[in-house]
Amino acid sequence: MLTSRLIGHRGVASLAPENTLAGIRLAAEMGVKWVELDVTLLGDDTPVLIHDADLERCSSSEGLVIELRRQDLKGIDAGSWFSEEFAGEPLPLLNDALTLINHLGLGLNLEIKTHSVDPDKITRIVQACLTNNPLPADKLLISSFEHDTLQAWYRTEKKTPLGYLVEALPDDWQQRLDMIRARSLNFDWQQVSAKEFMMVKDAGFELYSYTCNDPDQGALLWQQGVDGVITDYPQRFPIS
Ligand code: G3P
Ligand code: MG
Repeated sequence: MLTSRLIGHRGVASLAPENTLAGIRLAAEMGVKWVELDVTLLGDDTPVLIHDADLERCSSSEGLVIELRRQDLKGIDAGSWFSEEFAGEPLPLLNDALTLINHLGLGLNLEIKTHSVDPDKITRIVQACLTNNPLPADKLLISSFEHDTLQAWYRTEKKTPLGYLVEALPDDWQQRLDMIRARSLNFDWQQVSAKEFMMVKDAGFELYSYTCNDPDQGALLWQQGVDGVITDYPQRFPIS
Protein backbone atom coordinates (compact mmCIF):
# COMPACT_ATOMS: atom_id res chain seq x y z
CA MET A 1 0.00 0.00 0.00
CA LEU A 2 1.26 3.45 -0.90
CA THR A 3 -0.31 5.65 1.72
CA SER A 4 -1.44 5.19 5.30
CA ARG A 5 -4.59 3.56 6.73
CA LEU A 6 -5.60 7.00 7.94
CA ILE A 7 -5.36 10.19 5.89
CA GLY A 8 -6.23 13.60 7.29
CA HIS A 9 -8.80 15.29 5.05
CA ARG A 10 -7.78 18.83 4.00
CA GLY A 11 -5.20 18.54 6.80
CA VAL A 12 -7.28 17.95 9.92
CA ALA A 13 -10.45 19.72 8.85
CA SER A 14 -12.27 19.20 12.17
CA LEU A 15 -9.57 20.83 14.31
CA ALA A 16 -7.87 23.42 12.09
CA PRO A 17 -8.90 25.49 9.07
CA GLU A 18 -8.83 23.24 6.02
CA ASN A 19 -5.96 23.35 3.53
CA THR A 20 -3.71 25.45 5.76
CA LEU A 21 -0.17 25.13 7.07
CA ALA A 22 -1.65 25.08 10.60
CA GLY A 23 -3.68 22.01 9.64
CA ILE A 24 -0.62 20.28 8.21
CA ARG A 25 1.38 21.00 11.37
CA LEU A 26 -1.45 19.72 13.54
CA ALA A 27 -1.69 16.48 11.55
CA ALA A 28 2.00 15.83 12.19
CA GLU A 29 1.65 16.65 15.90
CA MET A 30 -1.22 14.16 16.15
CA GLY A 31 0.84 11.42 14.53
CA VAL A 32 -1.18 11.39 11.29
CA LYS A 33 1.17 10.16 8.56
CA TRP A 34 -0.61 11.37 5.41
CA VAL A 35 -2.75 14.38 4.58
CA GLU A 36 -5.10 15.09 1.70
CA LEU A 37 -4.98 18.68 0.36
CA ASP A 38 -6.63 20.46 -2.56
CA VAL A 39 -4.65 22.55 -5.03
CA THR A 40 -5.79 25.02 -7.66
CA LEU A 41 -4.35 28.03 -9.53
CA LEU A 42 -4.61 31.75 -9.04
CA GLY A 43 -5.12 33.93 -12.12
CA ASP A 44 -1.35 34.44 -12.40
CA ASP A 45 -0.80 30.64 -12.37
CA THR A 46 0.40 30.45 -8.76
CA PRO A 47 -0.67 27.10 -7.26
CA VAL A 48 -2.36 27.46 -3.86
CA LEU A 49 -4.24 25.22 -1.44
CA ILE A 50 -7.98 25.81 -1.46
CA HIS A 51 -10.97 23.57 -2.06
CA ASP A 52 -13.51 25.98 -3.54
CA ALA A 53 -13.37 28.12 -6.68
CA ASP A 54 -14.22 31.15 -4.55
CA LEU A 55 -13.05 32.63 -1.26
CA GLU A 56 -16.35 32.95 0.61
CA ARG A 57 -16.49 29.78 2.68
CA CYS A 58 -12.89 29.51 3.87
CA SER A 59 -11.54 33.01 4.20
CA SER A 60 -12.44 36.50 5.26
CA SER A 61 -12.44 37.63 1.62
CA GLU A 62 -14.82 37.29 -1.29
CA GLY A 63 -14.49 36.67 -5.02
CA LEU A 64 -13.07 34.05 -7.31
CA VAL A 65 -9.69 32.44 -6.67
CA ILE A 66 -8.92 32.71 -10.40
CA GLU A 67 -9.19 36.50 -10.13
CA LEU A 68 -6.38 36.71 -7.56
CA ARG A 69 -2.68 37.26 -8.10
CA ARG A 70 0.04 36.17 -5.74
CA GLN A 71 0.40 39.64 -4.22
CA ASP A 72 -3.31 39.57 -3.27
CA LEU A 73 -2.69 36.68 -0.86
CA LYS A 74 -1.21 39.10 1.68
CA GLY A 75 -4.67 40.47 2.43
CA ILE A 76 -6.38 37.10 2.88
CA ASP A 77 -7.07 35.55 6.28
CA ALA A 78 -7.80 31.83 5.83
CA GLY A 79 -8.10 31.10 9.55
CA SER A 80 -10.58 33.44 11.28
CA TRP A 81 -13.63 31.83 9.63
CA PHE A 82 -12.70 28.65 11.52
CA SER A 83 -11.81 30.22 14.87
CA GLU A 84 -10.03 33.24 16.31
CA GLU A 85 -7.18 30.97 17.38
CA PHE A 86 -6.23 30.72 13.69
CA ALA A 87 -6.68 34.42 12.82
CA GLY A 88 -4.21 35.55 10.17
CA GLU A 89 -3.50 32.04 8.89
CA PRO A 90 -2.36 32.48 5.28
CA LEU A 91 -3.98 30.95 2.24
CA PRO A 92 -0.94 28.79 1.47
CA LEU A 93 1.19 28.52 -1.61
CA LEU A 94 1.63 24.92 -2.74
CA ASN A 95 5.37 25.53 -2.52
CA ASP A 96 5.18 26.43 1.17
CA ALA A 97 2.99 23.42 1.88
CA LEU A 98 5.47 21.11 0.12
CA THR A 99 8.37 22.54 2.09
CA LEU A 100 6.51 22.01 5.35
CA ILE A 101 5.32 18.51 4.44
CA ASN A 102 8.88 17.53 3.52
CA HIS A 103 10.19 18.98 6.75
CA LEU A 104 7.59 17.07 8.79
CA GLY A 105 8.08 13.83 6.82
CA LEU A 106 4.40 13.53 5.95
CA GLY A 107 2.88 11.83 2.92
CA LEU A 108 0.67 13.90 0.62
CA ASN A 109 -2.44 13.03 -1.34
CA LEU A 110 -2.63 16.14 -3.50
CA GLU A 111 -6.02 16.55 -5.12
CA ILE A 112 -6.05 18.76 -8.20
CA LYS A 113 -9.13 20.97 -8.44
CA THR A 114 -9.01 22.10 -12.03
CA HIS A 115 -12.06 24.38 -11.77
CA SER A 116 -11.96 26.60 -14.88
CA VAL A 117 -8.24 26.09 -15.60
CA ASP A 118 -6.95 24.16 -18.60
CA PRO A 119 -5.97 20.62 -17.46
CA ASP A 120 -2.64 20.68 -19.33
CA LYS A 121 -1.75 23.98 -17.72
CA ILE A 122 -2.54 23.06 -14.13
CA THR A 123 -0.74 19.73 -14.38
CA ARG A 124 2.34 21.35 -15.93
CA ILE A 125 2.47 23.93 -13.15
CA VAL A 126 1.93 21.47 -10.30
CA GLN A 127 4.53 19.15 -11.83
CA ALA A 128 7.04 22.02 -12.02
CA CYS A 129 6.36 22.85 -8.40
CA LEU A 130 7.02 19.24 -7.40
CA THR A 131 10.18 19.14 -9.50
CA ASN A 132 11.53 22.18 -7.64
CA ASN A 133 10.35 20.92 -4.28
CA PRO A 134 10.19 17.14 -4.58
CA LEU A 135 8.63 14.74 -2.12
CA PRO A 136 10.00 11.20 -1.72
CA ALA A 137 8.50 8.83 -4.30
CA ASP A 138 6.62 6.87 -1.64
CA LYS A 139 5.05 9.97 -0.12
CA LEU A 140 2.95 11.38 -2.95
CA LEU A 141 -0.36 10.43 -4.54
CA ILE A 142 -1.94 12.79 -7.06
CA SER A 143 -5.71 12.56 -7.37
CA SER A 144 -8.52 14.32 -9.18
CA PHE A 145 -12.19 13.94 -10.02
CA GLU A 146 -11.33 15.29 -13.48
CA HIS A 147 -10.18 12.40 -15.59
CA ASP A 148 -8.99 14.85 -18.27
CA THR A 149 -6.60 16.30 -15.73
CA LEU A 150 -5.25 12.89 -14.78
CA GLN A 151 -4.82 12.09 -18.46
CA ALA A 152 -2.94 15.36 -18.91
CA TRP A 153 -0.71 14.43 -15.97
CA TYR A 154 -0.05 10.94 -17.31
CA ARG A 155 0.85 12.26 -20.77
CA THR A 156 3.75 14.23 -19.34
CA GLU A 157 4.77 12.34 -16.19
CA LYS A 158 4.35 8.64 -15.64
CA LYS A 159 6.12 7.93 -12.36
CA THR A 160 3.90 9.58 -9.77
CA PRO A 161 1.08 7.35 -8.50
CA LEU A 162 -2.36 8.59 -9.58
CA GLY A 163 -5.70 8.13 -7.85
CA TYR A 164 -8.94 8.55 -9.74
CA LEU A 165 -11.58 10.21 -7.59
CA VAL A 166 -15.22 9.30 -8.03
CA GLU A 167 -18.48 9.75 -6.22
CA ALA A 168 -20.43 6.78 -7.61
CA LEU A 169 -18.51 4.10 -9.53
CA PRO A 170 -18.72 4.75 -13.29
CA ASP A 171 -19.51 1.77 -15.54
CA ASP A 172 -16.22 2.23 -17.39
CA TRP A 173 -14.12 2.37 -14.19
CA GLN A 174 -11.62 -0.25 -15.36
CA GLN A 175 -10.96 1.54 -18.63
CA ARG A 176 -10.59 4.87 -16.83
CA LEU A 177 -8.17 3.45 -14.28
CA ASP A 178 -6.16 1.54 -16.90
CA MET A 179 -5.89 4.55 -19.20
CA ILE A 180 -3.83 6.46 -16.65
CA ARG A 181 -2.23 3.39 -15.01
CA ALA A 182 -3.92 4.53 -11.81
CA ARG A 183 -2.63 3.35 -8.48
CA SER A 184 -5.95 3.75 -6.75
CA LEU A 185 -9.63 4.45 -6.87
CA ASN A 186 -10.56 7.14 -4.34
CA PHE A 187 -14.28 6.88 -3.77
CA ASP A 188 -17.16 8.21 -1.72
CA TRP A 189 -17.86 5.38 0.73
CA GLN A 190 -21.52 6.40 0.87
CA GLN A 191 -21.97 5.95 -2.87
CA VAL A 192 -19.86 2.93 -3.77
CA SER A 193 -20.94 -0.42 -2.33
CA ALA A 194 -18.57 -2.99 -0.83
CA LYS A 195 -19.39 -5.31 -3.73
CA GLU A 196 -18.33 -2.62 -6.19
CA PHE A 197 -15.12 -1.58 -4.44
CA MET A 198 -14.06 -5.18 -3.86
CA MET A 199 -14.30 -5.68 -7.63
CA VAL A 200 -11.93 -2.75 -8.11
CA LYS A 201 -9.54 -4.13 -5.48
CA ASP A 202 -9.61 -7.56 -7.17
CA ALA A 203 -8.58 -5.84 -10.41
CA GLY A 204 -5.39 -4.73 -8.63
CA PHE A 205 -6.09 -1.16 -7.56
CA GLU A 206 -5.69 0.35 -4.11
CA LEU A 207 -8.74 1.86 -2.46
CA TYR A 208 -9.08 5.11 -0.55
CA SER A 209 -12.46 6.18 0.77
CA TYR A 210 -13.61 9.69 1.59
CA THR A 211 -14.83 11.23 3.84
CA CYS A 212 -15.38 8.79 6.68
CA ASN A 213 -15.75 10.39 10.09
CA ASP A 214 -17.21 7.43 11.99
CA PRO A 215 -14.55 5.09 13.41
CA ASP A 216 -16.85 2.05 13.33
CA GLN A 217 -17.56 2.65 9.67
CA GLY A 218 -13.84 3.17 9.08
CA ALA A 219 -13.03 -0.14 10.77
CA LEU A 220 -15.58 -1.87 8.55
CA LEU A 221 -14.09 -0.29 5.42
CA TRP A 222 -10.60 -1.48 6.44
CA GLN A 223 -11.96 -4.93 7.13
CA GLN A 224 -13.61 -5.00 3.71
CA GLY A 225 -10.30 -4.22 2.03
CA VAL A 226 -10.14 -0.45 1.82
CA ASP A 227 -6.50 0.57 2.14
CA GLY A 228 -6.94 4.06 3.55
CA VAL A 229 -9.72 6.09 5.10
CA ILE A 230 -9.72 9.85 4.47
CA THR A 231 -11.22 11.62 7.48
CA ASP A 232 -11.83 15.05 8.97
CA TYR A 233 -11.56 13.47 12.43
CA PRO A 234 -8.35 11.43 12.73
CA GLN A 235 -8.58 11.97 16.52
CA ARG A 236 -11.51 9.50 16.59
CA PHE A 237 -9.47 6.69 15.03
CA PRO A 238 -6.56 4.60 16.22
CA ILE A 239 -3.55 6.51 14.85
CA SER A 240 -0.64 4.21 14.11
O1 G3P B 1 -9.84 13.50 -1.97
C1 G3P B 1 -10.94 13.15 -1.21
C2 G3P B 1 -11.93 14.29 -1.06
O2 G3P B 1 -11.25 15.44 -0.66
C3 G3P B 1 -12.68 14.56 -2.33
O3 G3P B 1 -13.69 15.49 -2.20
O4 G3P B 1 -14.69 17.70 -2.31
O5 G3P B 1 -13.53 16.97 -0.22
O6 G3P B 1 -12.23 17.54 -2.26
P1 G3P B 1 -13.52 17.00 -1.73
MG1 MG C 1 -10.19 17.04 -1.61
